[in-house]
Amino acid sequence: MSVRPVKRLTQAQPAIEGAGVHLHRAFGFHDPTMLDPFLLFDDFRNENPEDYKPGFPWHPHRGIETITYVLSGTVDHGDSLGNTGTLGAGDVQWMTAGSGIMHQEMPKGNASGQMHGFQLWANLPSSLKMTEPRYQDIGASEIPEIIDDDGTRVRVIVGEFWGKNGPVDGVAADPQYLDISIPAGKHKTFKIDTYRNTFAYIFEGEGRFADASDPHGILLEKEVAGQEFNIRDLSGNRTLVEFDTGDTVTVQAGEQGIRFLLISGKPIREPVAWHGPIVMNTREEIIQAVNDLQNDRFIQAG
Ligand code: CO
Repeated sequence: MSVRPVKRLTQAQPAIEGAGVHLHRAFGFHDPTMLDPFLLFDDFRNENPEDYKPGFPWHPHRGIETITYVLSGTVDHGDSLGNTGTLGAGDVQWMTAGSGIMHQEMPKGNASGQMHGFQLWANLPSSLKMTEPRYQDIGASEIPEIIDDDGTRVRVIVGEFWGKNGPVDGVAADPQYLDISIPAGKHKTFKIDTYRNTFAYIFEGEGRFADASDPHGILLEKEVAGQEFNIRDLSGNRTLVEFDTGDTVTVQAGEQGIRFLLISGKPIREPVAWHGPIVMNTREEIIQAVNDLQNDRFIQAG
């Protein structure tokens, strides 16, 4: 077994999306190969209704999948296939935009005004970019939660983990999407398929993902000396942890414990042409999509 060294630690950056939603973006600014097959990760945890109420009114998607995970508050959604519904605390929606979908996502806070959740974009390979659009709405109670002897909790949203399978299926990137909580002071190691690109996103508490005996870790510490991060320090809220290759990820939880998403997927390794909510392989396909939008041909199914 080889532990995946930490390749980079960064903080999610403030961004404004939709009709004026203040959120934090962990990645998805410039380099689409950074965590291939994943393109973007937004943390829309917010305590101020003014900052999220404008929501994400009707907009198109083509060529990708979007995965929304709600922790508190609700998101009302509707789409061009005629689906409508509400995602609540603990629910997940996996949307395969494929050939094209129009939808809206309108966040509403809970009684204390909190709206907490995440949205991840996964790329589709060229062979599936124009596939039939599809929705998978998963209720919180359908998501298996495993509790280990030391109190570690793992919600298995997608993929197989410790013998349990997450409820989302048929996803092109064949990802693994886990929500992991580790109690204070505990040290855990998680197996991850060697060929997957892997990241963690911390959203509660703090911890250390570097292996104390890892010589690569010392190297990285020098590389990032100019930045505010030192991989020997504890990483906390809104930190994106990118891992290098290996077949396990190791975590040392800090004094308050740590909760993070651990997400991995098989890289697609194809050219990416990205225009807002539309992600294709070539510039020509983007022009086609914009043409389709202007000529009312964007929605091809449903
Ligand atoms: Co959308």
